[in-house]
Amino acid sequence: MAKKTIAVVGATGAQGGGLVRAILADPRGEFAPRALTRDVNSAKARELAKLGAEVVAVNVDDEASLRRAFHGAYGAYCVTFFWDHFSPDKEKAQARAMAQAAKGAGVKHVIWSTLEDTRKWVPLTDTRMPTLQGKYKVPHFDAKGEANAFFSEAGVPTTWLNTSFYWDNLIHFGMGPKKGPDGKLAFVLPMGDKKLPGIAAEDIGRCAYGIFKRPDLIGKTVGIAGEHLTGAQMAAALAKALGQDVAYNAVTPAAYRGFGFPGADDLGNMFQFKADFEKDFCGARDLGFSRSLNPQLQTFAQWLAANKERIPLG
Ligand SMILES: NC(=O)c1ccc[n+]([C@@H]2O[C@H](COP(=O)([O-])OP(=O)(O)OC[C@H]3O[C@@H](n4cnc5c(N)ncnc54)[C@H](OP(=O)(O)O)[C@@H]3O)[C@@H](O)[C@H]2O)c1
Repeated sequence: MAKKTIAVVGATGAQGGGLVRAILADPRGEFAPRALTRDVNSAKARELAKLGAEVVAVNVDDEASLRRAFHGAYGAYCVTFFWDHFSPDKEKAQARAMAQAAKGAGVKHVIWSTLEDTRKWVPLTDTRMPTLQGKYKVPHFDAKGEANAFFSEAGVPTTWLNTSFYWDNLIHFGMGPKKGPDGKLAFVLPMGDKKLPGIAAEDIGRCAYGIFKRPDLIGKTVGIAGEHLTGAQMAAALAKALGQDVAYNAVTPAAYRGFGFPGADDLGNMFQFKADFEKDFCGARDLGFSRSLNPQLQTFAQWLAANKERIPLG
């Protein structure tokens, strides 16, 4: 029987790459990946082609290119790239274009990689955290949450996938433990004693593959995480994996916002939201459900065992 094509936005990146590899790792499965990229000749795109993926050009700023890229596909994995541009408006325009293109192409199952609109918990009038860019509390969350409606309004069969903090941020986002003036490592997280749902980025794509195998999840909002851990627990796991002391430095969200790197205010608000609404945020990311989608789901300790050498210890 012919395989059903899954068109994967961001296929050369973390989430989409995990999904393409998950589909290819199951050669007897019912799906075949169509890896979407702006540059079909890049090294990463060629690597996916070598693994057996169909590779097709797309630009998520161009709805016509999305429509062509989604043509004939059973499924589409839709994700946006906030940290490339820091613009919630651009993110919303891209999400709208993906929803419209999926509708136009008659896609049967869309996964929209999303996050909560935090303004439902922290309205703009709430002064516990600053309002950013005029109308957001956590811009990279709120834009995705606002875009949820584009998929229902377009009438596309959608699963809304709430993702979690990538542990890979310790490698790529400068969030790993840092050496203090005393030469000791400290792990900074502005979350007090509250739990942060985290996941290996590769596991997001594997969970998405599990969702495509479950058409009963169309029309549903689901959440995934590998573990819910406090900063103290993460520091202890880091210490064990690295074989040296790692202190937990629970700075305040205000201090974190003041670190001054691009996006520090957005991330400071994000961690504050996750801490203040721990029960709702963790509750929306059930570990047993995540494992049912992806039996290979890694714990933080497992992820560290495989990745500890890649964490820069500045
Ligand atoms: N870091 C976290 O902890 C975390 C947690 C949850 C959610 N998120 C969200 O994850 C999203 C990013 O996903 P990711 O980490 O999978 O991204 P990523 O690893 O940065 O990959 C992005 C890929 O998307 C492609 N891309 C960029 N702009 C494009 C465009 N205009 N048209 C088509 N393709 C484009 C690029 O591929 P080509 O160059 O090949 O085109 C790139 O490889 C962000 O919105 C972020 O908010 C992050």
